[in-house]
Amino acid sequence: GSILVLNGPNLGRLGSREPDVYGSGTLDDLRARLDSEAPPGHAIDLRQTNDEAELIGWLYEAVDTSSPVILNPAAFTHYSYALRDAAALVTKAGLILIEVHISNPHAREEFRHNSVISGVATGVIAGFGFDSYLLALDAVNRLLG
Ligand code: DQA
Repeated sequence: GSILVLNGPNLGRLGSREPDVYGSGTLDDLRARLDSEAPPGHAIDLRQTNDEAELIGWLYEAVDTSSPVILNPAAFTHYSYALRDAAALVTKAGLILIEVHISNPHAREEFRHNSVISGVATGVIAGFGFDSYLLALDAVNRLLG
């Protein structure tokens, strides 16, 4: 099956968006790195949207297809109770949902210190650049293995 790697608002601008914070790699670079480390029998399905409704729909899709999820909720992390409730549907269904962040939000502005997603996630990985996603992939492997 697929591992869904879902990215929220403004992450389509990776590479040019605040490279001092997020690095110079693009979403396509990230996709290539994830593809090269995908576990046998799993395809990486990496997506990005600025639309909260679309992101929620993708979480329903994860439930319907029993797919593990690696989620970077971006700014929705800090205030979207709707996304939190959808994330809870995934983990309550017994599926893995790992919250990832490129930066370490705890080392940044106060409003980034709280995540409304973390309480319903399987676990959280933050602060390792694109490696946060690779570490999350490793975590998915360990949990499935
Ligand atoms: C982010 C951190 C969020 O605070 C921010 O709104 C983002 C990216 C990260 O990956 O570090 O858009 O989720």
